[in-house]
Amino acid sequence: MDQFIWHIYAYVYDLILLELSPYQQMIRRVYEALDPRNGECYLDAGCGTGNYLLPVLDSENDLTLVGVDYSNAMLKRAQKKLRSREEKVDLYELDLNKNLPFDKEVFNGVNCINVLYAIKTPEFAIQELYRVLNNGGRMVLITPLDEPEMLPILKEHLSTLKANYPRLWGPVFFYQLIKFFIPALIFVPINIYIKSNKKYHFFSEEEIRLLLTSNGFRIHEIGLIYGQQNWFIVAEKTRVNA
Ligand SMILES: C[S@@+](CC[C@H](N)C(=O)[O-])C[C@H]1O[C@@H](n2cnc3c(N)ncnc32)[C@H](O)[C@@H]1O
Repeated sequence: MDQFIWHIYAYVYDLILLELSPYQQMIRRVYEALDPRNGECYLDAGCGTGNYLLPVLDSENDLTLVGVDYSNAMLKRAQKKLRSREEKVDLYELDLNKNLPFDKEVFNGVNCINVLYAIKTPEFAIQELYRVLNNGGRMVLITPLDEPEMLPILKEHLSTLKANYPRLWGPVFFYQLIKFFIPALIFVPINIYIKSNKKYHFFSEEEIRLLLTSNGFRIHEIGLIYGQQNWFIVAEKTRVNA
């Protein structure tokens, strides 16, 4: 069922999210928080259709990037998007519930954007991300609050639109609503299903703090993002692996 959900989601994911300014802002914040430098190596855990990897590859830095995801449909889209930059990025189809096929301490930074909630064993996944991260390396984790709502995300999008197009925001928004209409018929029910299904993990601030600190991370920053519906966490690996 899980694979099926992501498969369907892959068809509409970019049609909506690439138009949504809170999503674009979130991707930018991840890049700023990781601040990748020349010669470094980064992991995008649950890279989806490659929306984080693409702008990072287009930055001037010479980086090694690895994207992993267990949905073949998502990865196919990422592959297509990253085709002209394929020598700079490796994509792997794998399940974050299982051991990662990487040595310990190989990545300078890791990001995990809106994936942790979907993982059956979030603590195990955090431990694996910790293992593959360099000592002192950063992880940027984004994951929904315990009661996430869709409307505030749309409201934030609308505010940005009003700021960017003070005169024309109405027609622009109307045009986007028409564009969103068909994909939203799939996107919205999937989000409602995820939100109401007990097998997905939504964390309170206390829970997410505990999950990270009890597994060796030091939290640098914790705040809200994406219409204030997601935790935005910057954490650092502090303990030396045995
Ligand atoms: C909401 S999308 C986020 C994609 C991307 N990080 C982004 O921000 O656009 C969630 C992604 O997590 C992936 N995913 C879900 N469970 C997973 C698992 N157990 N192992 C690896 N990837 C998983 C899905 O295939 C999907 O691409």
